[in-house]
Amino acid sequence: MAQINPSILSADFARLADEAEAVRGSDWLHVDVMDNHFVPNLTLGVPIVESLARATDTPLDCHLMIEDPDRWAPQFVEAGAGSVTFHVEAAAAPVRLAREIRAKGARASMALKPGTPIEPYEDLLPELDMLLIMTVEPGFGGQAFLDIMLPKIRRTRELIAKHDLELWLQVDGGVSAGTIERCAEAGADVFVAGSAVYGAEDPAEAVRKLRELATKASADAWWACGH
Ligand code: DX5
Ligand code: ZN
Repeated sequence: MAQINPSILSADFARLADEAEAVRGSDWLHVDVMDNHFVPNLTLGVPIVESLARATDTPLDCHLMIEDPDRWAPQFVEAGAGSVTFHVEAAAAPVRLAREIRAKGARASMALKPGTPIEPYEDLLPELDMLLIMTVEPGFGGQAFLDIMLPKIRRTRELIAKHDLELWLQVDGGVSAGTIERCAEAGADVFVAGSAVYGAEDPAEAVRKLRELATKASADAWWACGH
């Protein structure tokens, strides 16, 4: 079953508890942490993640678009995140960091910007619970999906199959009813959606619809046989 993670970047930041409630039934809440250095935008940090974790039962999927994740990521686990994603472009020691995140009790995940290839990281995949392939340049919600990322999603799914890994493959950026099926066919099984969920009249219904489209599209995909 495809997982849908609404991104609260497109929610009302003054009403985060209500906005979490508005997508009840989602698998995770995607929390975009930006530091105005790694990306040209600034969002929220550890105190807000702590408060949000207390305010909702939905587990938090924290996507750190920050410099020096080696230093900061563990604090997001302590704040209550169930999954922490760091960018490989920013990490000094990705293996050590992934191990530390897992040791503290969260799922460890690594993200790749559109220009970063997957191939150099093949041997590192067993250290991870999830890999995030960005389908826009990180920094802002509401951007157009980059179709040119589909081959990278496919190649990553091939590596997961080759090594027989229990690794989730997440896509983030421009995911909507118009693009989610292509992502699922290519091999993604976790889908972040910001504007497509919070821009909809009924966000919970938008989540259900996206999940249905992705689940159907992946059911017939080559990589899902035996799933
Ligand atoms: C962008 C963020 C995304 C963003 C996606 O850098 O990582 O999570 O919220 O927003 P949409 O779904 O609107 O592209
Ligand atoms: Zn994100």
